[in-house]
Amino acid sequence: MEKIVIEGVELHLVEPDQVPMTWVGQPELVTQVLAAWLVLGEDDLPLSPRLVGKPGVGKTTLAYHAGRISNRPVYLFQATMDTRPEDLIVTPVISEERQIKYTASPVVSAIIKGGVAVIDEGNRMSEKSWASLAPLLDSRQYVESIVAGIKIQAHPDFRLCTTMNDDASTFELPEYIHSRLQPQIHIDFPEREEELLILKRNLPFADDKVLDYVVEFLQAAHGAGERYSVRDGINIARYALKRYAGDGHGRETGGEKQRTAGYLKEAASMILDTTAAAEYFKDLLDEMAHEEKD
Ligand SMILES: Nc1ncnc2c1ncn2[C@@H]1O[C@H](COP(=O)(O)OP(=O)(O)O)[C@@H](O)[C@H]1O
Ligand SMILES: [Mg+2]
Repeated sequence: MEKIVIEGVELHLVEPDQVPMTWVGQPELVTQVLAAWLVLGEDDLPLSPRLVGKPGVGKTTLAYHAGRISNRPVYLFQATMDTRPEDLIVTPVISEERQIKYTASPVVSAIIKGGVAVIDEGNRMSEKSWASLAPLLDSRQYVESIVAGIKIQAHPDFRLCTTMNDDASTFELPEYIHSRLQPQIHIDFPEREEELLILKRNLPFADDKVLDYVVEFLQAAHGAGERYSVRDGINIARYALKRYAGDGHGRETGGEKQRTAGYLKEAASMILDTTAAAEYFKDLLDEMAHEEKD
């Protein structure tokens, strides 16, 4: 664990995240995040964009990917209802030598190292927690740790980005926080071709036919204003493929195509949260199989 001394207090930093998340399609969204982070000259400040969209559209993936593209270490912080201000800054723990050891949060580790902090699902945490980041997000560019009694100035390369689900189960943040999390970048459901690319990227071992079925369903769902996302599609395909691979005992009979379709239907009924959607998926599959025969 890396250590650093700030105003006489030793802080233990956490390591950045190294995860296999890459973004495909909609390249302008990556460009928008990177543009927000640009600094044009000495008096300029970077912006801290807010990525907004339905669950499963790729907000976390985009934030992480943009951070890596910008050649910075990326620190993911999962916000929850229970996130306290000190969880975002510095927390004290008792060391083996019974002394207080101060641990920097992923956000503060990014602040010190000049990395990107991604505050994931930022509208799950309260205004009180966001308030502790207010000076970081304006021209002051620092955070204060009440616990350690220090002020931590941001590295010039430090950048921040937050993701927010636009569902109801979250806090409504006040204007002074919203105005610091700009611009708002909205992520919509992808077009058919891009959605297929995303599925291929996430399931490179899957049969094209399986992915075609899933994309057909997702596109129909988007068209009907349903909230099902590529994440649901990935889960359906992934589980169906696992069932298919585990099917060594010949319990399912029929040809390869029928077995694949059977497992996709089973996966849909277990993953989609309404019977209507699962039924719709089944009908769509039957329809597509029928068309192929003709
Ligand atoms: N454009 C994309 N490129 C690559 N993967 C994507 C893309 N959009 C969504 N995904 C995949 O969909 C799933 C959900 O994405 P995630 O970033 O967790 O969504 P969100 O944070 O909006 O809920 C992940 O498995 C992710 O890999
Ligand atoms: Mg997410």
